[in-house]
Amino acid sequence: MTENQKSELTLELQQRINSAAGIPFSEFMEQALYHPEYGYYTAARTRIGKKGDFFTSSSVHSCFGQLIARQLEQMWQLLGQGSFIIAEQGAGEGHLCLDILNTLEEKYPAFYAHLDYRLIELSPDNRQRQEQILHRHFAAGRVTWCELDDLRGMVGCFVSNELLDAFPVHLIEKHAGELQEVYVVNREDGFGEDLRPLSVNLIKKYFQQIGIEPAEGNRCEVNLVACEWMQRVAAVLERGFVLTIDYGYLAEELYAPYRHAGTLLCYHQHQTSEDPYQRVGCQDITAHIDFTSLQKIGGRQGLDVLYFGHQYQFLMGLGFLEMLVEMESRETDPKKAQALRMNLKTLILPEGGMGESFKVLVQGKNIGQPELICSKRIRDIGMPTGAF
Ligand SMILES: C[S@@+](CC[C@H](N)C(=O)[O-])C[C@H]1O[C@@H](n2cnc3c(N)ncnc32)[C@H](O)[C@@H]1O
Repeated sequence: MTENQKSELTLELQQRINSAAGIPFSEFMEQALYHPEYGYYTAARTRIGKKGDFFTSSSVHSCFGQLIARQLEQMWQLLGQGSFIIAEQGAGEGHLCLDILNTLEEKYPAFYAHLDYRLIELSPDNRQRQEQILHRHFAAGRVTWCELDDLRGMVGCFVSNELLDAFPVHLIEKHAGELQEVYVVNREDGFGEDLRPLSVNLIKKYFQQIGIEPAEGNRCEVNLVACEWMQRVAAVLERGFVLTIDYGYLAEELYAPYRHAGTLLCYHQHQTSEDPYQRVGCQDITAHIDFTSLQKIGGRQGLDVLYFGHQYQFLMGLGFLEMLVEMESRETDPKKAQALRMNLKTLILPEGGMGESFKVLVQGKNIGQPELICSKRIRDIGMPTGAF
C-alpha cells in the first residue's frame, strides 16, 4: 500500500465519521482492516513472516501443520473414514493448509483421497497468495474456496488459526456503574475518542450471558462477530469438530479487574503499539478472544467441548517432542540443528513464544466424547532421548 492509499483510507474514514457524527470503534476497525480497497487485509502487502508485520504459528515451522494433520487423521477415523471436509477460514497465505495437505498426502494417503479442503477467505490478496502456494493441491482437486454458508450439512472439521482475533471489536468502558462505548470522532489533530451509550443492546446481553462485567474504570473489548461466527459454524456442521486456535482467555481472565486497558494491540513490522489511529490500513489491529462465550454459544448449538488448553499442551500431546528430536537427528550441521530447535521452541515457549498466550479449543457435534490424541497429558508423555 502506498502513502497515497493510506491517506485515501483516512480521508474516507474522516468523511464517514463526519456524516455519522462519530462511529463505534468496531466500525473504524472493520474499515481499517477490511475496507474493500485500502484495508490492511484487502490491499496487496506482505503481512506474515520476516518481511511482514507478525509471525503466526504456521509461518514459524511446518511442524505445526504436521502435528495438526495427526489430530485430523484421528478425527477422520472417529467419523468412520468416509468423505471428510476440512474447512479453514482465514487461512492467510495458506501455510497451514499446505502443511496439512502435504502431510496427509505423504503419511495418510487414504485420508487424503477422501478429503475435500475448503478455504473461506475474504481477502482477494490472500486468495492470490493461497492459489500460488497451494497450486499443486488445487490442481489435484483437493482444495477449493467457498463461503461459510455453502458448508451446510458438513461432516468433518472446521479449522481456524488466528482468525477470530482479527474480527472487529467494540471497545467498552465502565464508568459510574454504566457500560459505555468508545466512538471514534474527528479532532483537529487526527482521530479521537468519545464515550457514548452502547451502540447495540447485544453488548449488554453479551455480559449478562458470560455473567461478568468489566470493573469500574476499565476498558475492554467485546467481539460480537466471533459470537455470531460461532453460531454460524455450529449451524453448518452436521457431524464433526471445530478446532479453534487463537490467543485469548476464559472470560474471567479476559475481564479480570487487573486488566485495566484491555488487550487491543497493533502490529507493524514486528513492533507492537496500542494506538490503532496510527498507520491506518498499514498495521494489523487485534484483540484477545473470549473462549467462554465460544464454549457457551457452541454448547447451546450442540457443540460439546472436547478439549481446551494451551497451545504448548496441545502440541506436546500430538507428539511435538518426538518430532523435534527426529527432525534434529536428521540435521547434520550442528548450527542448523540449533537454529531448528530455537525455531520450533517458539511454538511452545510461554515467554516471548506462542505456547501459553495461544489456546486451543476443540468442540464436537454428534460425536460423543472421544479421547483426542491432543488430550494426552504431559506427565504421560515419555521424554524421547535427547529432547533437552
Ligand atoms: C491473522 S490472519 C490468519 C493467519 C493464518 N491463519 C495463519 O495461520 O498464518 C487473519 C486472516 O483472516 C482473514 N479473515 C478475516 N475475517 C474473515 C472473514 N470474515 N472471513 C474469511 N476470512 C477472514 C484475513 O483475511 C486473514 O487471512
